[in-house]
Amino acid sequence: MNVLPDHTARFLAATAPDHTPVQAEMADLAEEWDFPIIGAEAGAVLRLLARLTDAERVFEFGSGFGYSATWFLRGGAESVVCTEFDEEEAERGVTFATEYGYDDAVTFEIGDAMGTIERYDGPFDIALIDHQKSRYVDAFEAVRPKLRSGGVVIADNIASGPIDFDALVRHVTDGDPLPSVDDDAQTHGIGSYVDHVTDDPAVETAILPVGSGIAVSTVRG
Ligand SMILES: C[S@@+](CC[C@H](N)C(=O)[O-])C[C@H]1O[C@@H](n2cnc3c(N)ncnc32)[C@H](O)[C@@H]1O
Repeated sequence: MNVLPDHTARFLAATAPDHTPVQAEMADLAEEWDFPIIGAEAGAVLRLLARLTDAERVFEFGSGFGYSATWFLRGGAESVVCTEFDEEEAERGVTFATEYGYDDAVTFEIGDAMGTIERYDGPFDIALIDHQKSRYVDAFEAVRPKLRSGGVVIADNIASGPIDFDALVRHVTDGDPLPSVDDDAQTHGIGSYVDHVTDDPAVETAILPVGSGIAVSTVRG
């Protein structure tokens, strides 16, 4: 879902990089399954960040069948740890990687991403957070000590998806409280994440209105 005015969204869509054959096949599958992939406009930012950070290792919280991972690989990343608790999605991801010959660059870990990150040592160059919205802050803190200096964390669905964006706008502009966890755990999670990465002086964050809205953060020193 796009968060921009229609003409701007059309402009960005028209100037986004073309899908590779595997990405085109994945995008078709996403449409068929009504599955939320990050999309080409945000994908272009993933590719760019991988290129700019000279990324070698990437960790993803919530990978589906590996569409977002392919953007990091297009940016030159050497390996992506994909996490997914839906076995069918992960298996589809392995099949794509095998068919298109990049299976040595992706590892699909089936199970809770929050458990998987504990089993991996850093350093990672980039982390993508795109799993349960209520667990974004925990994911950030879990991966933070495993990032190399200058590493980047990208979080998806900051401005749209399973959240009440209007409530989030009222929170950041007027100081309204976020919906409680019991009332709306997803909006609470995204709002808490935005507070977390914008309040901490050790973290530098830019929020970009591409795709569903992404927060791009780096931890200083
Ligand atoms: C938005 S989709 C990921 C899309 C993917 N990043 C892309 O753009 O291609 C979120 C995925 O995270 C998975 N997921 C949610 N919570 C998870 C968790 N705690 N551990 C592992 N996977 C999780 C869901 O099953 C779903 O497939």
